[in-house]
Amino acid sequence: MTLAELDSQQAASLAEVTAAADAAALEQVRIKYLGRNGLLPAIIKQMKEVPAADRPEFGKRVQAWRAALESALAERVADAATGKKERAAFDCTLPGRWFAPGAKHPVSRVIEETAAIFGRLGFTVADGPDIETRFNNFTALNTPAHHPSMDASDTFWLTDDRLLRTQTSPVQIRVMTSHTPPVRIITPGRTYRRDTTDATHSANFHQIEGLYVDTKPVSLADLKSTLAYYAREMMGAEAGVRFRPHFFPFTEPSVEVDFSCHVCGGKGCRVCKMSGWIEIAGAGMVDPRVYEHVNQARGDHAYDPATVYGYAFGFGVERIAMVKYGIPDIRWLYENDVRFLSQLA
Ligand code: DAH
Repeated sequence: MTLAELDSQQAASLAEVTAAADAAALEQVRIKYLGRNGLLPAIIKQMKEVPAADRPEFGKRVQAWRAALESALAERVADAATGKKERAAFDCTLPGRWFAPGAKHPVSRVIEETAAIFGRLGFTVADGPDIETRFNNFTALNTPAHHPSMDASDTFWLTDDRLLRTQTSPVQIRVMTSHTPPVRIITPGRTYRRDTTDATHSANFHQIEGLYVDTKPVSLADLKSTLAYYAREMMGAEAGVRFRPHFFPFTEPSVEVDFSCHVCGGKGCRVCKMSGWIEIAGAGMVDPRVYEHVNQARGDHAYDPATVYGYAFGFGVERIAMVKYGIPDIRWLYENDVRFLSQLA
């Protein structure tokens, strides 16, 4: 064995001491090098084959190796007995694990704020399932199978009779079927449409439906004042509303509801496409045909179109969140990116 080989063997033996996982492994290393049939005794036995000139240096290095190996082994064995290695592995100066905090999601925020605002007006929150019947989602809302408005929302059917609801309006039917007037509810929830995703569309989004039906006169003026109150509470004291005539199968008359643009105050800007107004909701007075379908489902006449009055409305939650918080792309709401979500903290 040459001096160079001796050095590399020494380095290897010390590395094995360092790598040994426990006391048993350290003992294996000791036996391999220092045991009676170990490598060091074998090398010493072969000393006579080392050239005479190298022999004194060779002998010195073998002794040094033995000393280094013995002390390394002794240190590691003592550590293993006291558990020092585990403690040494815990470095309390390392930075802690960063817990990336988000914040309440803008969609949840709009839903909760809306529920609080309408709560002050006496509305309670009702709930309905994502999987609806054809009757609740369409027929009772005065949208028969052949109706053209079904095309736009003819969507995720699960069976001939069941589908992922295209709107939260079917909860109107559920509430009226199970409660006599007066009813005053809002109902937030998920809705589904066969939409191609882009900056303003998603096949899965949220709506908040509202319904007020009473046995005393309720008018379009009541609807307007209620929505004006909501606009001010949600968007700020300066917010105004306007109604534009529209058509929905389940309201008559029907309107589309715009909020004045909170960014430019109505002067016209990029957010409101220079119009000063932002489309926010559909609404109207509940169509008598809807009451008739409800009565049919109830088997009584609790919603007599001659004596009950009511209005309904439906908001897009994402739309309000995007307008209120200045979010340019609906997809940001679904990506769960904390860089986005933490901004509302
Ligand atoms: N369901 C309608 C939609 O998804 C929105 C709507 C319009 C709801 C008028 C209403 C209403 O309650 O009265 O487009």
